[in-house]
Amino acid sequence: MAADPGFIPTQLAARAAYLLRGNDLGTMTSAAPRLYPHMWSWDAAFVAVGLAPLSVERAVVELDTLLSAQWGNGMIPHIVFANGVDGYFPGPARWACGDLAATAPVVPQTSGITQPPVHAIAVQRILDHSRRHGRSTRAVAEEFLDRRWGDLVRWHRWLATARDPKDNGRISLYHGWESGMDNSPRWDAAYANVIPGPVPPYLREDTAIISDPTQRPSNAEYDRYLWLLEEMKLARYDDAELASTMSFAVEDVFVSAVFSLACDVLATIGEEHSAPKSDVRDLRYWAEKFQRGTIATTDPRSGAARDFDLRSGRWIPTETLAMFAPLLCGGLDRDAERALVRIFEGPRFCGHPDLRYAVPPSTSPVSGDFRPREYWRGPVWPVMTWLFSWAFARRGWAERARHLRAEGLRQAADGSFAEYYEPFTGAPLGSMQQSWTAASVLDWLG
Ligand code: SER
Repeated sequence: MAADPGFIPTQLAARAAYLLRGNDLGTMTSAAPRLYPHMWSWDAAFVAVGLAPLSVERAVVELDTLLSAQWGNGMIPHIVFANGVDGYFPGPARWACGDLAATAPVVPQTSGITQPPVHAIAVQRILDHSRRHGRSTRAVAEEFLDRRWGDLVRWHRWLATARDPKDNGRISLYHGWESGMDNSPRWDAAYANVIPGPVPPYLREDTAIISDPTQRPSNAEYDRYLWLLEEMKLARYDDAELASTMSFAVEDVFVSAVFSLACDVLATIGEEHSAPKSDVRDLRYWAEKFQRGTIATTDPRSGAARDFDLRSGRWIPTETLAMFAPLLCGGLDRDAERALVRIFEGPRFCGHPDLRYAVPPSTSPVSGDFRPREYWRGPVWPVMTWLFSWAFARRGWAERARHLRAEGLRQAADGSFAEYYEPFTGAPLGSMQQSWTAASVLDWLG
């Protein structure tokens, strides 16, 4: 890789490792030191990817902590709260899952929603790295897989059943936070139809930490986020109730594609480790079904994927990362795939002439929805660059993967490990020292 002035890979890796150690709370890594002082589900998976080259044993602990918070129905909750840590809203008291949800654990305390299922990728990276070590490290990884295989399959089974109520190979979400892309323009129309009822008073903590409120979701968005929590509490977090009562309900094409991919990854792991044949068969079936569900949303010519608003019955076409969902899981015909790659690499996304680095912004800079500094409405998220580079490598697109990695590393060379970046200036935004940004760098440099 061509070295950038001032960018010395070993130093950057050392700083990333130091950051993860600094955010380590013992058996979990906080997503970011002040803004996100607990464990987030998809953050934890990416963190495990970054920990794996440093210590397979510590990466296993990360996933063990997350899985020990799995609900009885199979859901991996989006937050596992660190014991006795304040400073994040909504905290465990606001979610009240232990009191209300029949299948939530009492300890540890968790939130009541889920997040994108990227965990199989982490398991694969842990196994990959364990092979480079001696027998005892390999045994730790194998033992983890044996012990947690059933939990991982239960997690996937819950997504494939409880979260596909229409049985069409697409994952339903009942809160924008479940997409991980909280305030993406993808959800604007669905949120416009959410009429917030009485929400108990609340004080945002995030805007006290990020001093420029324009980098975060607005107060109007937060009123809806918090109202949806109240709706969930009324439904006692019951899967069937949520499906029929939530005023926000969407089929998320990006999560559906990630799920298809994760099922495929887990099935291969299962085959290689003699997992029960029926589990592997189910995983392959879901991989194929959710790939089909993803492809069914696409424009036949451009290959662009769309979300679906279950409440209004309308498709949601947006120029956001979601349109590239089929590039993650495959399944498009050749011409459509080529067209979609051209959009990804062309002037509407990575090839926009004014971008500081050729990495995908969360929303296209030419879209009317684009806001270059506002959370998921435009900024570049390094962990998304990592996900696409990893998925492209897996699809056999080595040169594309290498290019994204090189550009992602050039961006990360500023050493801030920011949560997201302004696409044109490269200014770091949101939280600094974000764990998953460091983890992405560690995998790239590992
Ligand atoms: N990303 C959300 C937050 O900003 C929660 O998942 O708090």
